[in-house]
Amino acid sequence: MKPIVIGNWKLNPTSLSLANTLYTDVQKGVARLRKVEVAVAPPMVFLSALAEKAKGKKTFLVAQDVFWEKLGAHTGEVSNAMLSSINVKHVIIGHSEVREQGETDDEVAKKVSATVKAGNTAIICVGEKERDDHGHYLALVEDQIRMALQGVPKTKLGNVAIAYEPIWAIGTGNTATAHDAHEMKLFIQKVLSDMFGRTALSKIRVLYGGSVNKKNAEELYTQGEVDGFLVGGASLKADNFIEVAKIVDRL
Ligand code: PGA
Repeated sequence: MKPIVIGNWKLNPTSLSLANTLYTDVQKGVARLRKVEVAVAPPMVFLSALAEKAKGKKTFLVAQDVFWEKLGAHTGEVSNAMLSSINVKHVIIGHSEVREQGETDDEVAKKVSATVKAGNTAIICVGEKERDDHGHYLALVEDQIRMALQGVPKTKLGNVAIAYEPIWAIGTGNTATAHDAHEMKLFIQKVLSDMFGRTALSKIRVLYGGSVNKKNAEELYTQGEVDGFLVGGASLKADNFIEVAKIVDRL
């Protein structure tokens, strides 16, 4: 599995023309990288225009969310089939900012199950609000993973990635230490191997997200031994994001 670096643009930028520019700059900057996969997750409304640009390009597109039903009376929602029809095959699910709006573990599970059934890939976000001395945060992350993957058959594990994103590190400038990230990667792998057996580990990437930028990416990647990054704030500046991708490509 190649490592992957994904830029989560969240509610940015403000116009399609700025989104086009950011996508094009990123694409130019990473076009020659061979050892890393690169993707960006723009707001839903820009996906189909950018999908035209992304045809045959290295930088592929990811949706920031998806709904579990295929069609019907669900105002405001977007389905996996709709995403696939414009060649968007990856979806972020269970981001803490969406969970914060009321998304439940059960809804995350339905979205994940619908996504892998549709043949798309679910990038599932998990992570604790805060750390405690008793290891409760580990139990919370384990529960999130077990709930999210409850409807995923073993044959579909290749359509899953886990992004460990401690909420206290998102958008705060406080990244987890490389040691924290490494400990979490091993813990997540243990949960996956308890659930599905050791073969799961060669199929499921474990990413880190939370204030990743060009300054901390090298240490997090080499010492954290994660399989890539989900980058928020730093993905809005093409040069910063490209640098993160280059670091991962080089290492
Ligand atoms: P951040 O966001 O890099 O701005 O902390 C990461 C994320 O929320 O995916």
